[in-house]
Amino acid sequence: AQTRQEWAAEVRRLAAERDAVILAHNYQRPEIQDVAHFTGDSLALSRLAAEVEASTIVFCGVHFMAETAKILSPEKTILLPEPKAGCSLADTVTADDVRAWRGEHPDAVVVAYVNTTAAVKAETDVCCTSSNAADVIRSIPEDREILFLPDQFLGAHVKRVTGRDNIRIWMGECHVHAGIDGHTLRARAEAEPDAELYVHPECGCATSALYLATSGAVPEERVKVLSTGGMLSAAEQTTANKVLVATETGMLHQLRAANHTTVFEPVNARAECHYMKMITADKLLWALRNGTTEIHVPKEIAARARQSVERMVAIGS
Ligand code: 13P
Ligand code: SF4
Repeated sequence: AQTRQEWAAEVRRLAAERDAVILAHNYQRPEIQDVAHFTGDSLALSRLAAEVEASTIVFCGVHFMAETAKILSPEKTILLPEPKAGCSLADTVTADDVRAWRGEHPDAVVVAYVNTTAAVKAETDVCCTSSNAADVIRSIPEDREILFLPDQFLGAHVKRVTGRDNIRIWMGECHVHAGIDGHTLRARAEAEPDAELYVHPECGCATSALYLATSGAVPEERVKVLSTGGMLSAAEQTTANKVLVATETGMLHQLRAANHTTVFEPVNARAECHYMKMITADKLLWALRNGTTEIHVPKEIAARARQSVERMVAIGS
């Protein structure tokens, strides 16, 4: 049997042979994160997909991320090692839903989280990720109504931090993050009064996190609502003994690698995204050997979705 090192060497050799760059999301399995050329959050990976010179991108993540890479780099070959790697949040809204919602509010600006299909992005005005959602909202004139989709917790979070009251929010959720609830966060924070809290805004507990901070239950500076990339930057700088992390557990691998003196523990150890974990060592090898599975986005949909994604990439860059 092949050792982990032999496997990694083979993956890198095959990638070089294909002129491929391997991108991995922070929720991927540790061995996939370690072998990738770049690891990051949704925004960083979108930017990289647009910038890298390689002719092929092997996307170790979920389907909408590979589609976003294809939208930004139509001339590149985009491979997703497991095409069934979907997203429960992206599944909560269809292009027909967006058209109907816009029909009810024709003057509104439609903001879509990147966790949506290409067909949904094509129906929206601007995209956002968890790291730039508030900046995207602030870039829209105050008197324009906003339709925000599909994540209700991220929507409630940006509404709160921007103070905008003319935002309507789609009631979608990610089953992994919704499962990290306020009750669990509160209990963990009370049991560990010195620990910092890193909370992803998609979490069911995101509103509770802000409440804990503003009510004084936990000192405000210890509570951080962050994207996965934001968590990594915070981890590199923290001097806390312990950080309780509310997001998909794959994130812990990067956090622990970035800082060996702080202890990082999950708020909910069962918060695992089975879609993200579908990209296994064997599947990555298979994808590189066989050039599978290539992701295509119909040209007309890609052209409309691109405007929305490019508007996002331009904000705050
Ligand atoms: P970020 O990496 O942008 O924080 O996204 C989290 C997520 O759920 C992606 O599936
Ligand atoms: Fe989708 Fe949630 Fe998995 Fe992210 S963690 S890919 S939002 S199901």
